[in-house]
Amino acid sequence: MNIAVVMGGYSDESVISLRSGQLILNHLNKDKYQVFEVHILNEGWYVKMDDKKLPINRADFSFDNNGTLVKFDVVVNTIHGTPGEDGHLQSYWELIDLPYTGCGFYQSALTFSKRDTLSVLGKFDIPKANSIYLSKGQDINGEKIAATLGFPFFVKPNQSGSSLGVSMVKELSELDKALDFAFAEDKDILIESQLKGTEISVGVMKLNGKTKVLGITEIVSGNDFFDYEAKYLGKSEEITPARLSSEVSELVEKSAAKIYEALGMQGFSRIDFIVMNDIPHFIEINTNPGLSPQSIFPQQAAYANLNFSDLLDNEIKLALE
Ligand code: DAL
Ligand code: MG
Repeated sequence: MNIAVVMGGYSDESVISLRSGQLILNHLNKDKYQVFEVHILNEGWYVKMDDKKLPINRADFSFDNNGTLVKFDVVVNTIHGTPGEDGHLQSYWELIDLPYTGCGFYQSALTFSKRDTLSVLGKFDIPKANSIYLSKGQDINGEKIAATLGFPFFVKPNQSGSSLGVSMVKELSELDKALDFAFAEDKDILIESQLKGTEISVGVMKLNGKTKVLGITEIVSGNDFFDYEAKYLGKSEEITPARLSSEVSELVEKSAAKIYEALGMQGFSRIDFIVMNDIPHFIEINTNPGLSPQSIFPQQAAYANLNFSDLLDNEIKLALE
């Protein structure tokens, strides 16, 4: 079976995706699969083989290997951000009938918009922060925002990942810089009230036909919040399992599974919450969670005593169903 491990992407998260891709390449069972490393980058789409870059034919995602046309049976998708986490590539693979791992195109597109996810989850009674949604060019009244949300508040791009473009605003003088930072990532932004509590991240997947919560990881950020530096440059501590009572842990697991099912998700995902007053408040969903050595999802798989190669077999099987 020919497997394309697809990594990269067009956003600033591409460097993280290349690391996630390496973890997948290292764990796919080479006795079962013929594995190819595929890069989808701004500079082009190609299969990386030794020092060669063999271009991908966009009509059917095949490539020419020394005169032999190679077609893939399944794509293992590990792109963070656009175009691999937001439904674009999923739609394309769907149209050319090429099975791919993870969420479908609609779930990917929906969950990549923080605003739309919050709006849909509003129908399912999921506690969350108060938020204001704004687009580039709109009048922004900082005093009104502060009066509505209180300080500090968070300014986030609507569509982005790895906390890129996210700032904490502690006083009005910091707002303009935070807006510029977020609008550099997306034309739409969310401004959210601070939830004071324990930040946690929950790995969820489908295993043997059932929704499986892998574990709850507590994040203790060395910075003001779990920003890019805290995530990838060692400025945070991650504790699995999170130091929560068994009652609260159970609530978190139930809430994560409910969200996963309510949105019709499939494959590896990570759902982030802040537990405030013993109640998990939803923050966001990552349908292609980071799989770099610093990332939480592989740590949770190890905690759950699940072999990562077996989990990848499971993802491939699901993609083929
Ligand atoms: N968006 C990053 C890769 C994550 O969720 O882990
Ligand atoms: Mg994210």
